[in-house]
Amino acid sequence: MKKRVAVRDLRLGMHVAELDRPWLETPFLFQGFELSSPQEIDQLIEHCQYVYIDAELGDDLVPVEGRKELPHRTQALRIAEEKLKQEFKVLLESPERNQGKLPYGDRKPYRDQLPLEEEVERAAQLESVAGGMVREALAAVREGKPVDAEVAESVVRDMVESVVRNPDALLGVSCQRHESRFVSDQGVPMEEEIGRARKIESDAKNVVGETLKDVRQGKAVDSELAKRVVDGLVSSVERNPDSLILLNQHKQAETYMSLHAIRTCTLALIFGRHLSLSRDQLMMLGLGALMHDVGMVKLPDAILNKSIGLSKAEFEIMEGHVAAGVEILKGSDGFPHESIQIVEQHHERHDGSGYPKKINGDLIGLSGSIGAIVDVYDAITSQRIYRGGISAEDALKRMYEWRRKDFQPELVEEFIRCMGIFPIGSLVELNTGGIGVVITINRERRLKPKVALVLRSNKEPYTERFIADLVKHRTRTGGELRIKRVLPSGAFGINPVDHIAKL
Ligand SMILES: [Fe+2]
Repeated sequence: MKKRVAVRDLRLGMHVAELDRPWLETPFLFQGFELSSPQEIDQLIEHCQYVYIDAELGDDLVPVEGRKELPHRTQALRIAEEKLKQEFKVLLESPERNQGKLPYGDRKPYRDQLPLEEEVERAAQLESVAGGMVREALAAVREGKPVDAEVAESVVRDMVESVVRNPDALLGVSCQRHESRFVSDQGVPMEEEIGRARKIESDAKNVVGETLKDVRQGKAVDSELAKRVVDGLVSSVERNPDSLILLNQHKQAETYMSLHAIRTCTLALIFGRHLSLSRDQLMMLGLGALMHDVGMVKLPDAILNKSIGLSKAEFEIMEGHVAAGVEILKGSDGFPHESIQIVEQHHERHDGSGYPKKINGDLIGLSGSIGAIVDVYDAITSQRIYRGGISAEDALKRMYEWRRKDFQPELVEEFIRCMGIFPIGSLVELNTGGIGVVITINRERRLKPKVALVLRSNKEPYTERFIADLVKHRTRTGGELRIKRVLPSGAFGINPVDHIAKL
């Protein structure tokens, strides 16, 4: 049975089943988990006002003396997790489509027209043109002007053609572009610096506040204190310039919005191509995906810039970005109905738990369902202030776990097959210790892509380019060659795009 509990009453051992806001707006990517550390409680206090606990799965508000069930419970969870892992592996290794279950025709699958190396340069240019277009569109909307549908259409048409020629080029370029912004070349990773930067920023605010108070009371300004704060700011920028820039939240929100728009559009096109949608359908899908969050521009800065701890009332205002987006596109001539559907439905969920209309199942259109899947995938794999991005594998695993609740299950399974867990441009460590960049996906055996090796197992660079085909090549001792883990883009100072293009 679920019980509503104020966050300050939470204790270790309780099973949190529901939050007072969507999971995706918080650092918690597990929909339902047992509280196992005080930090988790602190985070819940920071992000929520109340949550629902499940007293069947965890401790109740009133602790039961000598409770014995915990080991069984833990074991049941472990079994469920293992089952999930197995199912996910089977899904990844199965090449066929879920024929007959999906609402699209029996068009022939697209074939790659160009190899990646011939498309990647063009894709990079296209991505930067699209970035400029989105920033201009957002600026126009902010001034109350309509979006120029013709310009958007011509950009999306080029993106459709690029994805049709080779889907991996634009994906590699747009995902890499995003990540490289958040890991400095030589400095400390953003996730490490951001906590420090946040503290420095709040110290700075306090000092400014105190200083103003002193001045008002006619006291001298404590210049030593001010100097210490400035020193802190300078050192943080030296460690990682992105962190403090990120704390300049307005700019951060803008940058995130335009990058998120392009990545969501790219993902929608790649998924649509995988589903063999026609070029016309891809156009409509791409236009809608590119504009899906355009309504965010109409939100008050105070809400847009507040990344955590929105109150219920503020959350309702935030939800208004959907209606605002629909209104903007309806007021801008030339956006087809299917494109507007993505804007309208990208926060609806399969079980009716989404917003704004709380529609469920088949009432959500194909474009809306695709929009929801790609929006969520990009949101959870992206770095946000309140949460580091997670790997493609973890993101797809979580989405698989949520498939009946949040998404049309067959469609999300198809998305997992389409993406694979090592997208082009993933920086990976092999079981030999060598480091490389994924450059070709083997669509039949997704766990065995081709990897351009960059560093040897002793982390010395290769003098010649060497491509490891994980299906064919073996380790020096004749063992299986496989990917051990995915590294954050930028690790070892490696920019994956350099290695994609150098085929
Ligand atoms: Fe949205």
